[in-house]
Amino acid sequence: MKNTTLKRWRNVVAALVVGALSASSAFAQETTLKSEHGATPEPIQEAVLDKLLEGVDVCAPPKGVDEEYWASLIPEGNEITPERFALGKKLYFERRLSSDGTVSCATCHDIKRGFGDARATSEGVGDQIGNRNAPPTFNVTFLHTMFWDGRSPTVEHQAMQPIVNPIEMGMPLDPEKIIAGIKDDPEYKAMFQAAYGRDVNYPDVGNALGVFERCLVFLDNPFFRYMNGDEDAISQDAKEGWKIFNNQGRCASCHQISPSNPVGSNNKFHNIGVAAHNQDFETMAARALAALESDASESAVDELALNSDLSELGRFIVTKNPTDIGAYRTSPLTNVGVSGPYMHDGSMETLWDVVDHYNKGGIPNRYLDGGIEPLNLTDRQVDQLVAFLFSLTDVRFADENAKEFAKQRSAAAKSRPERDVDVSTRRVLSFEKFDATAAKKGE
Ligand code: HEC
Ligand code: HEC
Repeated sequence: MKNTTLKRWRNVVAALVVGALSASSAFAQETTLKSEHGATPEPIQEAVLDKLLEGVDVCAPPKGVDEEYWASLIPEGNEITPERFALGKKLYFERRLSSDGTVSCATCHDIKRGFGDARATSEGVGDQIGNRNAPPTFNVTFLHTMFWDGRSPTVEHQAMQPIVNPIEMGMPLDPEKIIAGIKDDPEYKAMFQAAYGRDVNYPDVGNALGVFERCLVFLDNPFFRYMNGDEDAISQDAKEGWKIFNNQGRCASCHQISPSNPVGSNNKFHNIGVAAHNQDFETMAARALAALESDASESAVDELALNSDLSELGRFIVTKNPTDIGAYRTSPLTNVGVSGPYMHDGSMETLWDVVDHYNKGGIPNRYLDGGIEPLNLTDRQVDQLVAFLFSLTDVRFADENAKEFAKQRSAAAKSRPERDVDVSTRRVLSFEKFDATAAKKGE
């Protein structure tokens, strides 16, 4: 990467300023304060996290979530305990789990950057860049699968993958080598024993990280307060936006929001026309099938998804089902105000871009979901829908959310394509001519 040194220095300076405000004690640890890959130094992130979780009993069901529902989401054998949470938290910030010692989970899921990295796609060991946007690590307990394409079944399982991905943390596929950097550390030895009654081992690294992430619940947002009867919690615009979300915008057909589905994902996979930029999906699909024929191991699939030009096939790589070409898991929407840029490839900078995308009916392609159609929303309605989306951010991120709203609004004012074009007058989109029967027969 060009300019990396410069960029890093800028980040170090920025981090020091932040550090001075939020974690002055971290100054003592000069070496660990170094910023890598543009992320906030781990000790500063940790201090910010402690502040965010102040007064929260992480082992109790989160506020506002039904106790039984919460219990049903926690896997048997990996119940939440303070010891497991503490271990997972330490591991989350642990760079010794990466091959060159520069990357931890917190590099790409930076507490100060909405638990993501504020980039389109992520940078790992050796400054290598992958093909996917880093989604936030909060509220993941409510999702039925992990990753944009759902290739991992649980939070615990997911946590083991980035460690061995060659462009993320880059460790060899060998459980012993993975833990080599931490297994003789007396602090870790004691913490693994206290958490799981076992010595330091790789599967428990995944388990502990899972517990830690499951406790990162950020659902206390103005919109939920409004739904619970506080009329003044959100603006009039956001209230109108909520109506559009459920009606003309058709958003709720995939992003259902309810007490039993607070994050707003149906947990299904759809091609909404994001991956369709100049793709020859058929040729790519044939190449992917050939690659999977020779190696369909977990790590091979992970590399196809993240490190290869076949990434844009989305869910297809997991299921080999043609209807899953270019399909991704419906994104959760809580805290979406602070977790940009958006979509699996980070291709959309603002929530205005996102709503514009839906308003024009996505990018046409043979595999576009039937639920994606031009919406004919006016500019006023687009603004209202965006106002609603920003009301889904937890009050603990209120400052960042307000800043991001202002930043996105001004970016959108400059960058948006021609507004006020009547979408209903556009010519027929190619997916409307698509012959599904012929496609099934492979014609
Ligand atoms: C180099 C950057 C990078 C590092 C390091 C990294 N991640 Fe990620 N993470 C990503 C990207 C990119 C994705 C999306 C990949 C995909 O969907 O194909 C992701 C996805 C996830 C998800 C899925 C969330 C969802 O909505 O499905 C979780 C959870 C997660 N990472 C946790 C972790 C943990 C725990 C670690 C440390 C062991 C870690 N990540 C290390 C970049 C990173
Ligand atoms: C057919 C199902 C479907 C409909 C309808 C739908 N979405 Fe989505 N939404 C998705 C999927 C799938 C993704 C992830 C797509 C990708 O990354 O390629 C997504 C992603 C998003 C994201 C990005 C989140 C992030 O963190 O990157 C936002 C915001 C969003 N949708 C809002 C909306 C709004 C607002 C509407 C209504 C105008 C809407 N969606 C309608 C399925 C849908």
